[in-house]
Amino acid sequence: MDISIIGSGHVGLVSGACFADLGNRVVMVDNDSSKITRLKRGQVWFYEPGLKELVRRSLKERRLSFTHSIAMAVRQSQVIFICVGTPPLPNGEADLSSVEHVSREIARSMSTYRLVVEKSTVPVQTGEWIKRTLQSSVRKNIPFDVASNPEFLREGSGIQDFLHPDRIVLGVETQKAKELLLALYEPLNAPIIVTDVKSAELIKHASNSFLALKISFINAVARICELSGADVVQVAEGMGMDKRIGRSFLNAGVGYGGSCFPKDVAAFIRIAEKLGYDFQLLKAVSQVNTDQRHHLVKRIASSLWNLKGKTIGVLGLAFKPDTDDLREAPSIEVIRLLQEAGARVKVFDPEVMAQMDRSFPGVLGCRDVYEVARGADCLVLLTEWNEFKELDFKRVKRLMRQPLVVDGRNLYEPQRLRKLGFHYLGVGRSDS
Ligand code: UGA
Repeated sequence: MDISIIGSGHVGLVSGACFADLGNRVVMVDNDSSKITRLKRGQVWFYEPGLKELVRRSLKERRLSFTHSIAMAVRQSQVIFICVGTPPLPNGEADLSSVEHVSREIARSMSTYRLVVEKSTVPVQTGEWIKRTLQSSVRKNIPFDVASNPEFLREGSGIQDFLHPDRIVLGVETQKAKELLLALYEPLNAPIIVTDVKSAELIKHASNSFLALKISFINAVARICELSGADVVQVAEGMGMDKRIGRSFLNAGVGYGGSCFPKDVAAFIRIAEKLGYDFQLLKAVSQVNTDQRHHLVKRIASSLWNLKGKTIGVLGLAFKPDTDDLREAPSIEVIRLLQEAGARVKVFDPEVMAQMDRSFPGVLGCRDVYEVARGADCLVLLTEWNEFKELDFKRVKRLMRQPLVVDGRNLYEPQRLRKLGFHYLGVGRSDS
């Protein structure tokens, strides 16, 4: 099938590369011409395992092409996916101006039937706005459909998630739109749910918000564990064995970050408000997430008496492992709070060091974990990279000024570190 994808960010590029790999001819569009130039050479500017290889293969086999011209893409494709950014406005609402702009451009370039599919994360009822925009800009009598096909791709495993999804959600209004999308996704042989457009839009926000809720719930339980002497890892195991609850997304820690959960929770609160519902439950989810970061810093401070003049070594900056993404990463707030309290901060992250100076003024970047440990009063783990799992802890202890480890992702076995002579603090794990 001939398709085009407007917006070559994480979602757009992963989707485009995967659709091309499945044998479709895909035109990728972006208004940033430097991105297009790099993509034409097979260069991907963010870290996503396997993506560069997939892009290069499809480029070579001429199934994938790149342009900055929406008109050219629309002329060549029957199905057009909108994957542009929907960043948050100061009030939490999603900024839909790019979706509007792109919809207008698509309409102006249409000469025969087109299916326009929203894949960007958008508030419920955006499909109606897209339809109205297309109607007002399209030349007379050219038929079109609007559909919603939300994405559920995680950064770091986007290709795997695209090719082996738990479900594909297709929000459609006509048989034709349904048939086109079913044909496109048929090779994946995955469970498909067909809904109306608004329900599909809501599935996305409700799913991300529910996952965020699971994380904040277990983080709130972690606080009770700390106060009562229970262990949140054991509590999560026990809860997760109930199939109705499930074990995933019950890992207590320093809280969720990234370009999706914080933004989508805020947007969902705002959508509800605009529709006339006060979504108090989600407001609490967001508050618990913010509190987790402050609480971690308070625990470090109280273990060191105070933070003034202390050296804190931070392991991991990215919002999660296997990505170089710093957007809404807990590390940003934690480091800011540490610095505000007078601490000196040293850091190491396997992927993020190039962005260090810009994102973390006044922080000392190190080559590896051991350089971070040298002279530190405390080591704080904020991202559970695989390479942090097996450290030479005897060496780490020799290098540190005080043997305090604060494990913001519960990566380590408390007993093991305590046996080695560390004062170990996890999230929701008893202190002794
Ligand atoms: C998330 C969703 O998982 C995807 O399904 C969705 O498509 C995507 O947002 C999106 O809307 O585009 P992503 O932001 O890449 O994907 O990351 P996740 O793996 O979901 O992790 C989000 C945050 O939650 C991370 O900071 C992670 O450390 C944290 N987390 C996750 C926890 O603190 N505890 C957990 O148990 C799980």
